[in-house]
Amino acid sequence: MTEITTTLTRTPAARPADAALSFGKVLTDHMFMMNYTAGKGWHDPRVVPYAPLSLDPATQVLHYGQAIFDGLKAFRGPDGQIRLFRAQRHAERLNKSARALCIPELDADLVRRSFEAIVAVDNEWVPHAMGTSLYIRPTVIATDVMLGVHPSATYTYFVICSPVGAYYKEGVKPVRILVSDNHVRAVQGGLGEAKTAANYAASLSAQLEAEEAGYTQVLWLDGVERKYIDEVGTMNIMMQIGDEVITPPLAGTILDGVTRNSCLQLMRDWGLKVSERKISIDEVMAAGRDGSLREMWGTGTAAVVSPVGELGYKGEKVSIGNGQTGLLTQKLYDSIIGIQYGTAPDAHGWTSVV
Ligand code: COI
Repeated sequence: MTEITTTLTRTPAARPADAALSFGKVLTDHMFMMNYTAGKGWHDPRVVPYAPLSLDPATQVLHYGQAIFDGLKAFRGPDGQIRLFRAQRHAERLNKSARALCIPELDADLVRRSFEAIVAVDNEWVPHAMGTSLYIRPTVIATDVMLGVHPSATYTYFVICSPVGAYYKEGVKPVRILVSDNHVRAVQGGLGEAKTAANYAASLSAQLEAEEAGYTQVLWLDGVERKYIDEVGTMNIMMQIGDEVITPPLAGTILDGVTRNSCLQLMRDWGLKVSERKISIDEVMAAGRDGSLREMWGTGTAAVVSPVGELGYKGEKVSIGNGQTGLLTQKLYDSIIGIQYGTAPDAHGWTSVV
């Protein structure tokens, strides 16, 4: 088994109080690093003191965005144990993103061990309060120094961690969503299913437009017909119309969300009718008008689930659930949180104790 070396910081930082935590502003004392060169492959896995990277201004990633990342969390349960949620699946997804960006795949077991290693060293940084966690951000960047457009021959993998509070300061509360009919996040054959910087850069101007119009997030439609629902903000989208739970299929434009997968599994366990199928915005708005659109929510690691309370599309507004969080949305949130903090049985073996 590849050995991971550890160099501890001599200047540990003060940790913020749990109550002061927001999302991603404070980073921990250490980081995990590993390098790739053509001759050696991925090598030199190590935990080192957190420090800035020194990059030549011509470094490939800064110009052409050959970069991937992922995001998972470690939770401290009331039993004092620290658990990672679906670490292996996140490691495998990082490789899926790597393939899309022509980045050499990593050993998924070593990636999972990198999460365990950094959390073990920075375990004091895993906050204690319910709702808080340690957000773990594995990243790969292309490090060749050149201005030609090619896949890089060298890469750096690093993992940084941030103690976080709830993603939305207002808590699990329905948000207002603007359906974007002029911006597109991704198209089939593009990078939509990869967790890569470009998708987030592509989302910024629509997000700003939505905020300026008084909305929290953007609902993305497909890039060809602008007809079918893809994602919401940086999350997957789900809804319950009548007795059917519907979420768009994994057809190349959306992320294979770990929380998406977990919610689908739980709802199938509960015997609900769950469809992964294309759904048009017209069908959703019609269901909103006739009252059969019972609940709608986004799913993602950062927020877990985020209920949608209102949809705005082409000047029309439909309200969902009278501004209340729906029963199913709340049940999903409570169930996933319970598994993450070790207060509910983990029937699918999703957590691993560090
Ligand atoms: C998530 O975990 O839901 C995200 O993708 C958000 C992250 C990019 C901050």
